[in-house]
Amino acid sequence: MILDDRLEAVAGFVPADCKVADIGTDHGYLAMELYKRDKRRTVIAADKNAGPCQAASHTLAEAGLTECIQVRQGDGLKALAVGEADTVCIAGMGGKLISDILSAEPEVLAGLSCLVLQPQNAYSLLRRWLYEHNWHIVDEALAQVDGRVYQIIKAERGQAEIPSELALKLGPVLLEKRPELFAKHVENNLISCHKVLTGLQKSAEPDRGRIQQMEAEIAELEGLL
Ligand SMILES: C[S@@+](CC[C@H](N)C(=O)[O-])C[C@H]1O[C@@H](n2cnc3c(N)ncnc32)[C@H](O)[C@@H]1O
Repeated sequence: MILDDRLEAVAGFVPADCKVADIGTDHGYLAMELYKRDKRRTVIAADKNAGPCQAASHTLAEAGLTECIQVRQGDGLKALAVGEADTVCIAGMGGKLISDILSAEPEVLAGLSCLVLQPQNAYSLLRRWLYEHNWHIVDEALAQVDGRVYQIIKAERGQAEIPSELALKLGPVLLEKRPELFAKHVENNLISCHKVLTGLQKSAEPDRGRIQQMEAEIAELEGLL
């Protein structure tokens, strides 16, 4: 199997028979698998940089799929014409960069009905961005590669109430579904919170409010284990 568990989870969230673009495709593996698994899909593999575009072209040439999947060099959604895609995958980038990419081309974004996102960080920021821009999360998954747990988010159009701070941090669907890696996901968040708390406590002028807030967050996370 060419995809690791992280990209496998991303692929699993992409609808059948859609017009999908893999933004930041790099090696092009995801784009290739999306087409191979459902040849009704139209697939565009896009990347900002020339090297990854060459790597993706090489992957597709080796698989004999050069004619089936377009490789485009372009910054984020600028690689797409309006209406050309209904689904976008953005994996392996920071949550802020993902939200910036989505914000930068409102007309292309308006033509999308499904987003499959795998942020490397800034999870709350990205989830909040979705809810504040007429998207809502319909599914989430956790995947582990080399000991690191990744979060994969599927969002669709439509207004919904913004989840709680805890749900924005951990994932509203993950909180509900509690998949196999959920305990490790919570433990990772606890480790980060303890690091922040230690930093706050060591400060020359400790911020009592922030310390109390962090202690409450830790207690809430511990309650999930
Ligand atoms: C860490 S790689 C992730 C590759 C692949 N999506 C994955 O998850 O395995 C990030 C890729 O995103 C590309 N990238 C970064 N910023 C981008 C942008 N604004 N638009 C398109 N591609 C971008 C980089 O060139 C790089 O190939």
